[in-house]
Amino acid sequence: MSASREGPAEPRGGGESFAGAPWRGVVREFREILPEIPEEAVVTLLEGGTPLVPAPGLSRRVGGGVEIFVKIEGQNPTGSFKDRGMTVAVSRAKARGAKTVLCASTGNTSASAAAYAARGGLRCVVVIPEGQIALGKLAQAMVHGARVLAIQGNFDRALELVRGLSDEGTVVVVNSINPDRIEGQKTVAYEVVNALGGRVPDAHALPVGNAGNITATWRGYEERAATARAVSARGGAAAAAAAPGVALPKMLGFQAEGAAPIVRGERVLDPRTIATAIKIGNPASWKGALEARDNSAGMIETVTDREILAAYKALAEVEGIFVEPASAASVAGVLKLNAQGKLTGLRTIVCTVTGHGLKDPERAVAVSKGVEKVDASPGTLRRVILE
Ligand code: F0G
Repeated sequence: MSASREGPAEPRGGGESFAGAPWRGVVREFREILPEIPEEAVVTLLEGGTPLVPAPGLSRRVGGGVEIFVKIEGQNPTGSFKDRGMTVAVSRAKARGAKTVLCASTGNTSASAAAYAARGGLRCVVVIPEGQIALGKLAQAMVHGARVLAIQGNFDRALELVRGLSDEGTVVVVNSINPDRIEGQKTVAYEVVNALGGRVPDAHALPVGNAGNITATWRGYEERAATARAVSARGGAAAAAAAPGVALPKMLGFQAEGAAPIVRGERVLDPRTIATAIKIGNPASWKGALEARDNSAGMIETVTDREILAAYKALAEVEGIFVEPASAASVAGVLKLNAQGKLTGLRTIVCTVTGHGLKDPERAVAVSKGVEKVDASPGTLRRVILE
């Protein structure tokens, strides 16, 4: 932390926990860059501070000295990046006297909303596409006591219905159309740069569904670079320390091929992909995603389900990192761009992996080799293991 002591005054991040200063969660760690929240309204499960883990196996595969890091957002309290925005949205809803939070979801938003509502003493209603959300996520919403309403229709329809009820009475919508969600999620960029010792990565890759996360991550990088530039302009020792932090990464977004409205430039009426979290045909933050792409000189591309599953397995088998399928789209995309020779000049690449693998246990079982039944005898075990 010595660099940041001399450098720009900015929130820490990256999960450092040193004696006497335990991690305090997104709202308290990043208070100065977030909308105002009175202390008594803070609803937190100490989210954020997730690890940025080097991925040596993937880096070797890409070659050319490229270093790949994985920002493991599945290590947030409910197992996805949604918690960063949810702590802000639910705290602000509580501060305003809300009684109920409402969301449409492909699963993770509902799991997060349900947990934070429970923690904050609010009711939670979630609207989900029936039969299209992974088992772990459904279990989370249920166990936290949310009302779970399943509709015949996809996520886009669910969000349309929820939008129609926006903020009626004491109900607050906590989808990423709520700006507080984006504000909370932008904190990931600060953590990445701090974990890299003040260096900004050359590129940041992430899966794109409703496009809130790419919008938020880019905002985080932009705001932090603007602060670093201001410090730099003042001169002196702090300016030197801030210098590496004025850069911006290229944002690399990846949509599933059957659910790629942003890449195609038009709504997808019947989105299809095994990555149910990003099975979205009309993203709410479409414009934010285009701005992130264009202002960062980045790219938004497609990855096939096959490529997503290959990256999913590679992360689990080679790096020991278990993510849900949609999360692997970031890694799949980077591997694809590499194969196409499009990573030239990018040496440090961060991939956000958005959700924990246990969210979707059925997929894990389906793609893995089966369980072997063996006799309960020492002889058999010895033979099977040692031969
Ligand atoms: N990865 C996971 C695991 C997700 O759950 C989502 C979105 C995304 C990526 C895409 O992020 O929407 O900000 O572009 N899940 C939402 C939900 C839609 O309802 O849980 P995005």
